[in-house]
Amino acid sequence: MTPETPSATAAAKPRVFIFDTTLRDGEQSPGASMTHNEKLELAGLMEEMGVDIIEAGFPAASDGDFAAVSEIAARSKSAIICGLARSTPADIARCGEAVKKAARPRIHTFISTSPVHMKHKLKMGPNAVLEAVGRSVTQARGLTDDVEWSAEDATRTEFDFLCKCIDIAIASGARTINVPDTVGYSHPHEYGDLIRRLIENIPNSDKVIWSAHCHNDLGLAVANSLAAVANGARQVECAINGLGERAGNAALEEIVMAMKVRGDTLPYETGVDTTYLARASGMVSRITGFPVQYNKAIVGKNAFAHESGIHQDGMLKNSETYEIMKPEDVGVSKTSLVMGKLSGRNAFRDKLESMGYTLEPDALNDAFKRFKDLADRKKHVFDDDIIALVDEQLAGIGERIGFKRLRVVAGTEGPQTAEIDLIIDGVEQFSLARGNGPVDAVFNAIRQLVPHQAVLELYQVHAVTGGTDAQATVSVRLNGDGIMATGRSSDPDTLVASAKAYLHALNKFEVRKAKRKAA
Ligand code: KIV
Ligand code: ZN
Repeated sequence: MTPETPSATAAAKPRVFIFDTTLRDGEQSPGASMTHNEKLELAGLMEEMGVDIIEAGFPAASDGDFAAVSEIAARSKSAIICGLARSTPADIARCGEAVKKAARPRIHTFISTSPVHMKHKLKMGPNAVLEAVGRSVTQARGLTDDVEWSAEDATRTEFDFLCKCIDIAIASGARTINVPDTVGYSHPHEYGDLIRRLIENIPNSDKVIWSAHCHNDLGLAVANSLAAVANGARQVECAINGLGERAGNAALEEIVMAMKVRGDTLPYETGVDTTYLARASGMVSRITGFPVQYNKAIVGKNAFAHESGIHQDGMLKNSETYEIMKPEDVGVSKTSLVMGKLSGRNAFRDKLESMGYTLEPDALNDAFKRFKDLADRKKHVFDDDIIALVDEQLAGIGERIGFKRLRVVAGTEGPQTAEIDLIIDGVEQFSLARGNGPVDAVFNAIRQLVPHQAVLELYQVHAVTGGTDAQATVSVRLNGDGIMATGRSSDPDTLVASAKAYLHALNKFEVRKAKRKAA
């Protein structure tokens, strides 16, 4: 197999393979844990948008990770499905088992190579590390043809020792060599140089694909990854919205668009259909409850907004005055007035399809009903309203605790109170509670019916569109007993959205608690 392995192409420009680690490194970021179904949903979208390699998880980390990687592997069609493994025999065996049903499985094994990691973390000497590299890659190659090897903390590793490790990994059968800037320490010129020097110094460097994996501690992850590409790397490990440990990984959408927009200076091609980028970003934000900062490159709410008069005037004359890419290129449709309450089911289905959603008949009926309800309550229904509505439906509030009715008394004449009807395990239950403000009253009412120890760690409200009748999207994160769960919901009534978001998180929390108890 040649370095062009992931999907041999006859592309005009050389190909850079996109390795998405949102489900592995991304999920490691505090508070970003995802449910099994959310992982499947995200992996499905990644495959559809043309991600070459999906790092689906760390199978030895937990039974949940193992199950998610196995099912993503079994459902995959074209993407390479990769699992991460430390260099121990048990980790590699578990990883091999998890990815084996993929059409194209990959085992990604790693060990630290820097002096500080070897001494303090591994408590291993250099010779033991060299031995582990050979043994782990050989074992992984016994389970699958496609093996990636990473030198954790490569950028703080002595160059000659790094070369020795990589030599052994290649000799043992690794086909991709990843050079992580694990602590986000490098500057672009250093990281680019490192990749170039490795390629020049390693005898069999042309037999493997060189990969960049950069963390964003200094805000340089994307710049470093692009420097690596300019110096010979042909795989970039990145995550949607830049999710990842600490300050995150390089943002997939920025890497892909930097190459697409600036093909003159970086003449490489990726397989990603960029019109999926906004949707993928929204999905990750919805699933994790991590909002996308407004001025985030490519997918931020303001990325294509022009505020000042001078800019608006220029844009009206010619959009190239202030736009280096079109919103449509990344899947941001111009906010358009959709349809009113008289719109039909077929028009609604066509609208959904134009936004990239194909729903099964039952789900479509459900979404249509919800759209009609919304159109009854809200004068103008925009694309973003429909996206919020469908995303909420796909996320589902959950099985055990359902929402039925809410009535809140708020205002200056307090006390603020909330009455709520919930369906808990099929039985309707009522609760009335006071609170320090209406949101607190709503959450107290829920807590009376479903007592739990989780602490509300995050409560956030965003307006989906402009106007006072805009839908509110509420994100909630609960944390307790080492279990973290996020929930999200949208509704023109902020308090209803708050109650549903809380229930969404609580359902997930309860499921995880039950699973842990059973285990
Ligand atoms: O940052 C890192 O070094 C990693 C490796 C496990 C690839 O995530
Ligand atoms: Zn990492």
